[in-house]
Amino acid sequence: MSTNPYTLAQEAAAALKAATGLESFDVALVMGSGWVPAAQAIGQAVAEIPFTDLPGFSAPAVAGHGGKIRVVRTDTGRHALIFLGRTHLYEGRGVDPVVHGVRTAAAAGVGTLVLTNAAGGLRPETQKVGDPVLISDHINLTGAVPISGTTFIDLTEVYSKRLRALVREIDPTLAEGVYVAFRGPTYETPAEIRMLRTLGGDMIGMSTVLEAIAAREAGLEVLGVSLVTNPGAGLVGEPLNHEEVLEVGKATAARMGVLLAKVVDRL
Ligand code: 6GU
Repeated sequence: MSTNPYTLAQEAAAALKAATGLESFDVALVMGSGWVPAAQAIGQAVAEIPFTDLPGFSAPAVAGHGGKIRVVRTDTGRHALIFLGRTHLYEGRGVDPVVHGVRTAAAAGVGTLVLTNAAGGLRPETQKVGDPVLISDHINLTGAVPISGTTFIDLTEVYSKRLRALVREIDPTLAEGVYVAFRGPTYETPAEIRMLRTLGGDMIGMSTVLEAIAAREAGLEVLGVSLVTNPGAGLVGEPLNHEEVLEVGKATAARMGVLLAKVVDRL
């Protein structure tokens, strides 16, 4: 097993091809908490590979965050890699494990990456709990970047305009918003939530931004979708809990699945 993260991703991609007997894949989807039940709608499962069977992956630390790659064949014959579970920066393993799945998908030949997450809503005036929101841009406050050395990566259009337009053709009611990432694992204080509103954020979470940056480095086209599972702390007065976040996801899984299936078929 290589110690170079890019070589390690190539090894994982080779293992994935060997395990599935497939030579190429069209799209990868990272299912955030709440999105996992939506995976079923995307296509027929042709293989399921536990993360622990592939070089460089580790089992997710949090209950409800899955831990395998499901390979599915869509109605139009495309092959999608569905990551059921992801590694978060707050697990303390560093940035490379957080983006290993994205690098593996890129090495396996996908051209498009769909990143989903569960997020806190910073705009309860206009957002409803259970609403999916297209990520138009992000603010990375994790303090980390998944790139080392002196590679400069253009982030003018991290989340593809083309893909956002395509999704809005399918569902014109979808809003767009700026996703802010904190490292976690605490939720934010009410003062931090007020700060993020002032900064122009619309959703807050603990994932996605590092994966999106790694995907842009690899030349992938990125679509990001947040599921707003609760308002940020202090905005409505109720304390936040992880179980509630997962519950909201389950309740809206069908809508998410139908949306993503249509997106994948029209890529
Ligand atoms: Cl309010 N904050 C963060 N950081 N992540 C979340 C969340 C809030 N709600 C769901 N995920």
